[in-house]
Amino acid sequence: MKQDMIVILDLGSTENTVLARKIRELGVYSEIHPHDITAEALKNLDNVKGVILSGGENRIVDGQAVEVSPEIYSCGYPVIAINHPTAKCSQALDALPDETALKEFVFGQCKAQPNWNMKNFIEDQTEIIRQQVGSRKVLLALSGGVDSSVVAALLLKAIGRQLTCVHVNHGLMRKNESESVIDVFKNQLHANLVYVDASERFLGKLEHVSDPEQKRKIIGKEFIRVFEEEARKLDGIECLGQGTIYPDIIESGTKTAKMVKSHHNVGGLPEDLQFELVEPLKQLFKDEVRSCGIELGLPANMVYRQPFPGPGLGVRCLGAITRDRLKAVRESDAILREEFEKAGLDKKVWQYFTVVPDFKSVGMKNHARCFEYTVIIRAINTIDAMTASVEKIDWDVLERITARILNEVENVNRVCYDMSPKPPSTIEFE
Ligand code: XMP
Repeated sequence: MKQDMIVILDLGSTENTVLARKIRELGVYSEIHPHDITAEALKNLDNVKGVILSGGENRIVDGQAVEVSPEIYSCGYPVIAINHPTAKCSQALDALPDETALKEFVFGQCKAQPNWNMKNFIEDQTEIIRQQVGSRKVLLALSGGVDSSVVAALLLKAIGRQLTCVHVNHGLMRKNESESVIDVFKNQLHANLVYVDASERFLGKLEHVSDPEQKRKIIGKEFIRVFEEEARKLDGIECLGQGTIYPDIIESGTKTAKMVKSHHNVGGLPEDLQFELVEPLKQLFKDEVRSCGIELGLPANMVYRQPFPGPGLGVRCLGAITRDRLKAVRESDAILREEFEKAGLDKKVWQYFTVVPDFKSVGMKNHARCFEYTVIIRAINTIDAMTASVEKIDWDVLERITARILNEVENVNRVCYDMSPKPPSTIEFE
């Protein structure tokens, strides 16, 4: 890493991530490290220009009052402390510094260069990946999501045909999703791409399974099986590419997060992992991953796509999945996305999708009674997906979408709009 860095030492503040992001927005790279880092380990980090001790009210981590090792102050870096002032620092602040104070520290005291940008990052990483991988081969599970797509593009730039991407279609993808992965990576970027259509296998395993957690577990487990089978067919693969990003690293360090649903990321690791990991995005926040994708030439609709759960439409076709309802979810979701784009809502709304519950209701079509499914539209805004508010959609747009779904999607005679915030609802239904 050739770029200058400001190190934030975590003394229990909840605002470490905000601070790291603010520094990066100034064009200077910043990383969060544990409070008990040794002076030696700190000095071994590349291009450190300054240190911020970032404590909460009482500098408490996991219920214990904490301090940094005294040698940190004599490493030769400017050090500032936020909250519980200490005389050893060059400056002590009561709260998160504003932009002027932060600039004064980063550029004035630390003399850091604003050289954190995606062009430099890609150049650095290309070199780092080449050094790590050497002449070995790398395997990557390419779901088509933002993170896996950007890793694929970056690895492709660094090691070209030494990379093999495997795209598993679990039959729960959105309309034209697999086709777009094949088009971008195989046809346009000429990547080594193995496409596995495992739709029938997944749908078979999921038949009559209605419990949401069981559905998620089956999809996750089966995905790994298919992926391992494909990996075994390939010769001499030693490394596995992963779309791990910085929030995954920060979050895996917290002990307080409670599990609400078992999150399944396509590409989840088998426990007896035999591969060496290559994780070139692990320093990036989500918006930086997107900028990196754009800089690498990926299409904007791939890079700016909304989040999509690993188990895909499987958690939106509620209860036991049936083919007719799965088709109704897929078709209605495509209509919703098309109409949101036309109305400019795709840039305004964080996540929007449809779900189809496993009940039917009475309706009228062509002057006759019908008994068909309901499509529920969900459109939410959020910052971190921990809480979410419902988007107030223009009535005309909702009417247009409703009319299209009722006209174009088979087996559907009713459309509803979900008004529930998170909490108490979650964003997805299962
Ligand atoms: P919930 O439903 O828990 O969702 O409010 C929060 C966010 O996470 C997404 N989500 C997933 N993402 N694997 C993922 O990668 C999953 O299994 C998964 N389940 C939910 C969801 O779409 C929302 O953005």
